[in-house]
Amino acid sequence: MVAKKPRIVIIGAGMAGLTAANKLYTSAGSKELFELCVVEGGTRIGGRINTSEFCGDKIEMGATWIHGIGGSPIHKIAEQIHSLQSDQPWECMDGFAEETTTVAEGGFELNPSIIEPVSTLFNKLMDFAQGKMVEYDVSNEEVGYCKLAAKACTCTSNGGFKELSIGYFLRRGLDAYWDSVREQEEIKGYGNWSRKLLEEAIFAMHENTQRTYTSAGDLCTLDYNAESEYRMFPGEEITIAKGYLSIIEFLASLLPAGLVQLGRKVTKIEWQPDGHRPLEVENGHGDRPVKLHFCDGSTMLADHVIITVSLGVLKASIRDGSSGMFHPPLPSFKAEAISRLGFGVVNKLFVQLTHDGESGNNFNQFPYLQMVFHRHDSEKRRKKIPWWMRRTSSLFPIYNNSSVLLSWFAGKEALELESLQDEEIINGVSTTISSFLPQSHKPMTPNSHELGNGNVNSVENSSGREFKFKKVLKSQWATDPLFLGSYSYVAVGSSGEDLDLMAEPLPKNSSSNSGSVTSPPLQILFAGEATHRTHYSTTHGAYFSGLREANRLLQHYHCVGV
Ligand SMILES: Cc1cc2nc3c(=O)[nH]c(=O)nc-3n(C[C@H](O)[C@H](O)[C@H](O)COP(=O)(O)OP(=O)(O)OC[C@H]3O[C@@H](n4cnc5c(N)ncnc54)[C@H](O)[C@@H]3O)c2cc1C
Ligand SMILES: *[C@@H]1O[C@H](CO)[C@@H](O)[C@H](O)[C@H]1NC(C)=O
Ligand SMILES: *[C@@H]1O[C@H](CO)[C@@H](O)[C@H](O)[C@H]1NC(C)=O
Ligand SMILES: *[C@@H]1O[C@H](CO)[C@@H](O)[C@H](O)[C@H]1NC(C)=O
Ligand SMILES: *[C@@H]1O[C@H](CO)[C@@H](O)[C@H](O)[C@H]1NC(C)=O
Ligand SMILES: *[C@@H]1O[C@H](CO)[C@@H](O)[C@H](O)[C@H]1NC(C)=O
Ligand SMILES: *[C@@H]1O[C@H](CO)[C@@H](O)[C@H](O)[C@H]1NC(C)=O
Repeated sequence: MVAKKPRIVIIGAGMAGLTAANKLYTSAGSKELFELCVVEGGTRIGGRINTSEFCGDKIEMGATWIHGIGGSPIHKIAEQIHSLQSDQPWECMDGFAEETTTVAEGGFELNPSIIEPVSTLFNKLMDFAQGKMVEYDVSNEEVGYCKLAAKACTCTSNGGFKELSIGYFLRRGLDAYWDSVREQEEIKGYGNWSRKLLEEAIFAMHENTQRTYTSAGDLCTLDYNAESEYRMFPGEEITIAKGYLSIIEFLASLLPAGLVQLGRKVTKIEWQPDGHRPLEVENGHGDRPVKLHFCDGSTMLADHVIITVSLGVLKASIRDGSSGMFHPPLPSFKAEAISRLGFGVVNKLFVQLTHDGESGNNFNQFPYLQMVFHRHDSEKRRKKIPWWMRRTSSLFPIYNNSSVLLSWFAGKEALELESLQDEEIINGVSTTISSFLPQSHKPMTPNSHELGNGNVNSVENSSGREFKFKKVLKSQWATDPLFLGSYSYVAVGSSGEDLDLMAEPLPKNSSSNSGSVTSPPLQILFAGEATHRTHYSTTHGAYFSGLREANRLLQHYHCVGV
């Protein structure tokens, strides 16, 4: 009998799956050793990397940033394939920083002297939580707030330090700050805004940004202790001129045609927890312990399966119990880690700005706008800003003079966005803008609230220029059954250890399969963003996880390792 080659099937053609496929395919000797394929449920490769085009600009519907170029494998590939320069306009985000305009609801442009103390406080609190705070960097005062906040958390939460959330910690920090600042002069000329309300709302704006960074829709569900385990690469954060998808296409180009199969959604995975019962004999090629079922009814046997589907898809597959994807169901250590970890929704919204009246492309430059909202319940709304806009921290052109504006959404607001009609979105954004940019003077009088009243799709600025929105494009990560959300976070009640459990292959070592060596272990391996303890939620985390699982198999077969 001809010795069979072990068959490795990778589920998912995103960053993790394609990285694993590459490592396995290009490792010396492995071409002869393995039968390899990637099965992808969608009709495209890339997964949560989804470069698209909007109004002639290259934009990202999913992964956008290289989070720190120092040491990033993604950056290395991008440089190697010359993806960092392009002639076509892209989401390069150069209109940043100095150009930021922070406006409080009602159209009150805020002076840096009001914003900076709160922003500094917020940043120091996050640095402290992330373990990045170097004491000599900051004033004793700030260290004091952080320590007070952390201490308050220790004392108050029922389960002790373990149950601490970032949301709770941040608010304790704000309270500590308020308790210690001297009586400050009340501000004037900001309508119904008092100093305290403004400070609170600026703080909330930063929290909203944090919600999109972490995908925790409510920061009170984001674990405090895990925050300091998360690692960032040093250096600049940049976007990819030729699109994030260029990295994916490069990885795929190294694989032979046909290795990646599209439209192959896996519906059921039969595996053998005891590791020794032959499942089926395929054409006399011996037994393979794992059987995959596809949406079209076809099946495939495999020796090893690397699963890279999102944590959202895994959560759904265990929620359904015995009718879920795994047969038998996943062991409890795995199922519990899956359900404890957080998987949130983050979406991007692009809107096209048109300038009415003037010809040519010399449209009115839209600012890099940061929005400071009244608390939802704080007063009767004169303007009907929809609730799903009220936790959006910013709206800005994707490059200096672009007519395309971008906002990030998180949590239930992001989920709502997915279900809205384009028309409703345009109305919602327009109404919001009319409460923030009715004029450029500062501060305004209460009466000028009436400006822009009843104006649906356009907002006039004091000089008679208008912002009008024409087209929208939004991502829909939560409704897409191949993702069911955006990225993972360590929720209160879970810990970094759960991310390690996510990475454990199945079946787990057990003494019960003593005596049997016929069936190889490593039936089901887990890769993907949510399986990396320190780089979860990123493309490079997914990349590392793919390498890790490919290496696990290579080592198993004593191939050239790592
Ligand atoms: C809006 C948004 C913004 C982001 N921004 C950034 C950023 O700026 N920087 C950054 O580093 N990261 C960012 N990320 C995260 C990054 O995109 C992901 O961490 C990474 O792409 C995940 O790769 P993966 O291979 O683990 O999973 P995926 O890309 O999800 O790949 C899994 C694949 O499995 C397929 N699949 C699912 N179910 C099945 C099935 N039953 N059968 C067969 N195939 C199936 C899916 O179609 C998918 O192609 C962002 C993500 C989102 C959504
Ligand atoms: C965009 O604006 C910023 C800030 O004004 C400036 O530093 C940058 O060079 C500009 N970029 C381009 C491409 O004009
Ligand atoms: C807000 O300001 C307006 C005008 O100054 C005033 O009539 C109204 O009562 C104020 N609302 C609150 C809640 O203070
Ligand atoms: C951007 O717009 C400003 C103002 O309209 C204009 O002066 C400038 O030349 C534009 N820059 C580019 C790169 O188009
Ligand atoms: C309003 O238009 C004027 C004149 O064109 C411009 O200088 C100003 O920046 C605009 N205001 C805002 C808030 O964009
Ligand atoms: C991916 O991008 C396309 C547009 O190119 C869009 O239609 C699709 O909805 C995007 N996928 C998700 C999950 O947002
Ligand atoms: C399984 O056994 C191997 C080899 O003894 C060991 O390295 C690994 O940590 C074990 N895994 C588990 C989950 O116990």
